[in-house]
Amino acid sequence: MGGHDPAGFNLFDSEERALADAEALLASLPDTSGDTGARVAALVAAYRRNVREQRRLVRVSDRQQAQLAALNQELARRGAEAEDALARLRQAQEILVQSEKLASLGALVAGIAHEINTPVGIALSCASHLADATGRIRALVAADDVGLDDFERYMDAATDTATLILANCERAATLIGSFKQVAVDRASSGRRRFDLATAIGETLASLGPNLKQAGHRVTVDCPAGIEIDSYPGALSQVLTNLVMNSLIHAYDDGAAGTIALTVAPPEGGFMRLVYRDDGKGIAAENKGRIFDPFFTTRRGAGGSGLGLHVAYNLVTGTLRGSLAVASEEGKGTAFSVVFPVAVPEQAD
Ligand SMILES: Nc1ncnc2c1ncn2[C@@H]1O[C@H](COP(=O)(O)OP(=O)(O)O)[C@@H](O)[C@H]1O
Ligand SMILES: [Mg+2]
Repeated sequence: MGGHDPAGFNLFDSEERALADAEALLASLPDTSGDTGARVAALVAAYRRNVREQRRLVRVSDRQQAQLAALNQELARRGAEAEDALARLRQAQEILVQSEKLASLGALVAGIAHEINTPVGIALSCASHLADATGRIRALVAADDVGLDDFERYMDAATDTATLILANCERAATLIGSFKQVAVDRASSGRRRFDLATAIGETLASLGPNLKQAGHRVTVDCPAGIEIDSYPGALSQVLTNLVMNSLIHAYDDGAAGTIALTVAPPEGGFMRLVYRDDGKGIAAENKGRIFDPFFTTRRGAGGSGLGLHVAYNLVTGTLRGSLAVASEEGKGTAFSVVFPVAVPEQAD
């Protein structure tokens, strides 16, 4: 059996040799019937049993070693199987994530088409109405039959339809803008090392006019000198969307609130940024839907329902972090953005 070491063999061989010597000694005794002879014979017999027992033990140990080796082999095989299964699971998960992304992109495109349909449809019917009215007034002018009230009616219609066309085209353009944002290629948006507090300051400064006009107070509590290696554009977009939401959803006109931004020192390679407003909060039944594309409580009043969807995708995708909301009606809303200090290299 190949299970035990050469030292074991030698030991066993020497025992065998010693036994053979003892047997030879016994055989060479002139008389084994005497007292000494009988005692030597008993000793040799005992030694023989001993060596046999030893040999049996070695065989048992060999068998056990063989069993152990087989078990180890089986264990290794199962380990490999488990690793295989895990790899397949990861692959399946990756495919699911991809199809989820595709599905959400599909839903997004369908939603965009649906959303754009309305303003474009209105603009189209207004334009055709304007064309009709213009044709009629042109005919009247040509026939030299145009009265003052004809002309006034035409002017009114032209003004109204032009206003409607403009508003709806603007709405369509805004929607297309949002769509572009969503579709922004992750890889192409720039990654660099930057100072977090500075980036937050710059973003808030760019929002200053909006915030000032509404009379809100903004406080920032971010340790100075934290340098992160990430996507400043994405971070800024996320912050912008959160601020715009507070401006639009959190406060009634004329009500001034406080928006607080708190960044904790890095922990375990991650940053935690908490954005908080003290506005109306989000109704419990809506909380689970605010990150869905096109979920808005301001449909028809400037809401596209894409702001938080974009923010979510940027945080979980580009920044490789997580975005969570906590809100209580009447008490305000808090978003917590957790993201790595250095974005890991993208695997895909
Ligand atoms: N700070 C906030 N306070 C209250 N409600 C909010 C806030 N932020 C988001 N919401 C709710 O989440 C919804 C989805 O937000 P978002 O995706 O940005 O779409 P939109 O702003 O176009 O409505 C909003 O319609 C609103 O109901
Ligand atoms: Mg929004």
